[in-house]
Amino acid sequence: MPKWLKDAVFYEIYPQSFYDSNGDGIGDLNGIIEKLDYVKGLGCNALWLNPFYDSPFRDAGYDVRDYKKVAPRYGTKEDAERLFKEAHKRGIHVLIDLVPGHTSDEHEWFQESKKAEKNPYSDRYVWTNGAFSGIEGHPYIAGASERDGCYMLNFFAFQPALNYGFGKVTKDWQKSWDDPACQKTREAMKDVMRFWLDLGCDGFRCDMADSLVKDDDDFDKEHVAMIWRDVRAMLDQDYPEAALVSEWSNPRQAIVKGGFHMDFYLDHWNNGYNSLVRDYEPHPKEDRSYFKKGAGGDINRFLDDYINKYNSSRDKGYISFLTSNHDTPRPKRTLTDEELKLFYAFVLTMPGVPFLYYGDEIGMRYLNLPSKEGGFQRTGSRTPMQWDDSRNKGFSTADPEKLYLPVDDAEGAPSVQAMEGKADSLLETTRSLIKLRHEEEDLQADAAFRPLYSRKGQPYIYQRGDLILAINPDGEKKEVIIPEVEGRKIRFSIHEVGLKGPCLTMGSQSFAVLKE
Ligand code: GLC
Ligand code: CA
Repeated sequence: MPKWLKDAVFYEIYPQSFYDSNGDGIGDLNGIIEKLDYVKGLGCNALWLNPFYDSPFRDAGYDVRDYKKVAPRYGTKEDAERLFKEAHKRGIHVLIDLVPGHTSDEHEWFQESKKAEKNPYSDRYVWTNGAFSGIEGHPYIAGASERDGCYMLNFFAFQPALNYGFGKVTKDWQKSWDDPACQKTREAMKDVMRFWLDLGCDGFRCDMADSLVKDDDDFDKEHVAMIWRDVRAMLDQDYPEAALVSEWSNPRQAIVKGGFHMDFYLDHWNNGYNSLVRDYEPHPKEDRSYFKKGAGGDINRFLDDYINKYNSSRDKGYISFLTSNHDTPRPKRTLTDEELKLFYAFVLTMPGVPFLYYGDEIGMRYLNLPSKEGGFQRTGSRTPMQWDDSRNKGFSTADPEKLYLPVDDAEGAPSVQAMEGKADSLLETTRSLIKLRHEEEDLQADAAFRPLYSRKGQPYIYQRGDLILAINPDGEKKEVIIPEVEGRKIRFSIHEVGLKGPCLTMGSQSFAVLKE
């Protein structure tokens, strides 16, 4: 286990929207380098960068055309190398996005694979053996190639599935997960990983990590997990400080079986995460989310989902909470800054390794925008970072019409500059929380977690190591008698908190960390 994960706080950067260093309207790698001091000042000591590879950008870069080339709009390979170096100088580790399940249909491998005559790439993707024999249970494209076959899709229509084989083989065109052709796909992906690790990155966020071997559910994803164990063995041997985080959201499979160091706790419908901040579908007016003031949410809905996940993976790796990401609505869509402070307090004090999505620290809003680069409703969470109150909110000097996406500069739009130095602002509260986490080992990834008090409508109280934490998302003051808090001091608080003997008073929308 890379030791640096224990105290890591990640910051996710969507490169096209972070900072435009050359005034062409789109963020770039040099722009990220220029803002590394900001990231460090926030207290984040690790980055996850969304894909910056050469791509036709029909899925914002998750449609890779060349895994070993930086997209010219972001810069060059040398810029990437410099970014890794400059980050390391500041004590920041960098994970980049690995998209192992599919490529763009413009990738050279696919161009070869779709040819009629057999060649070394014929089996690199999943193909049936006839243009009229489709694929049951999976999306596929028929009749689009000179090759007489249908190819499987992994996501959108232009993202053909790379061939890692099938868990259960029932058709003659399906290859088993251990077929030599599938092993070649796996080795090709490891070669890509080595390329970037050798250039200086510190590991990968692995896109759709659970999807590699098809029809593997009957085996509890055993064969998918085997592929990742093999990748992990390569890291353990040659890059022991490199880290992997999976887009899987099943820590028992991803961490325990697959060997991932971290697994995202994603916002899957009706799961624990959604009960915290996103329990408003289909009626935004009936928000039952735990962190929504006055919604009467119940923390047990989260705990019932989380505790098993935590217990099943706690000694093997980390569950990663996120404020949001490039695929989800921003939490500011429905929560006020006061509500967000408590949500971030929670994210930053739970076990595992937390991820903060760029702009969430200032409460950037979710905008209703037309789709850009396959974003669809995700587009509204991908707008340019709001640095200050100058033109384009300091993101770019380009003409506003030339920007990758419009900047939110409407009335009330927040910016870093406007919040900086204001103690009560969301930005400064987030910064204080991150600082607190770095100072208190018991708030970091490893210290044990135990809920102490979780009654609906009452403050939620939990223990991390020797610390006791309490959250009251309600608008009313609450009092709880709880013997464990007796003799403690308030180490950190948001809003009014009182402690007298075993009686803990939590003011409206408050948070407290209590220390012996
Ligand atoms: C993941 C990415 C998402 C992308 C998809 C296909 O879910 O986070 O942005 O569109 O995979 O690669
Ligand atoms: Ca640029």
